[in-house]
Amino acid sequence: MKLKTTLHLLPLLAATLVTIASPAKASEEIVKKARCVACHAVDTKRVGPAYKDVAAKYKGDAKAPAMLFEKVRHGGSGNWGTVPMLPHPADKISDDDLKAAIAWILALH
Ligand code: HEC
Repeated sequence: MKLKTTLHLLPLLAATLVTIASPAKASEEIVKKARCVACHAVDTKRVGPAYKDVAAKYKGDAKAPAMLFEKVRHGGSGNWGTVPMLPHPADKISDDDLKAAIAWILALH
């Protein structure tokens, strides 16, 4: 019975390991799925700043993840120019996905 339970959990365990093994890929999928890529690219400025430039700007800033979370969630302008970013409500990107996306952006270099 115990063995059966363990075997049952194996696919779940495997899925978790895959997620841990490739966080970068997973977060890149998130920004594609949430359509952030319509305005952002990793290396080049488009409508919004390049993600690498965002990472450079907030390097070492402990408050950046929380600030950027609010910024992407509610939208706004002023940090990179006058073009505003649209709000991204929870039905477009979940809290977890948004946190993961921001962590991925800030880790780029
Ligand atoms: C409609 C175009 C558009 C979309 C879609 C968009 N962005 Fe932006 N983004 C912008 C613009 C424009 C700025 C610059 C805002 C400013 O000057 O403060 C920006 C800024 C940012 C910044 C830096 C914010 C700051 O204050 O320094 C982050 C991080 C970011 N976007 C992440 C995302 C993520 C994650 C998504 C997807 C969920 C996304 N963006 C979708 C246009 C967009």
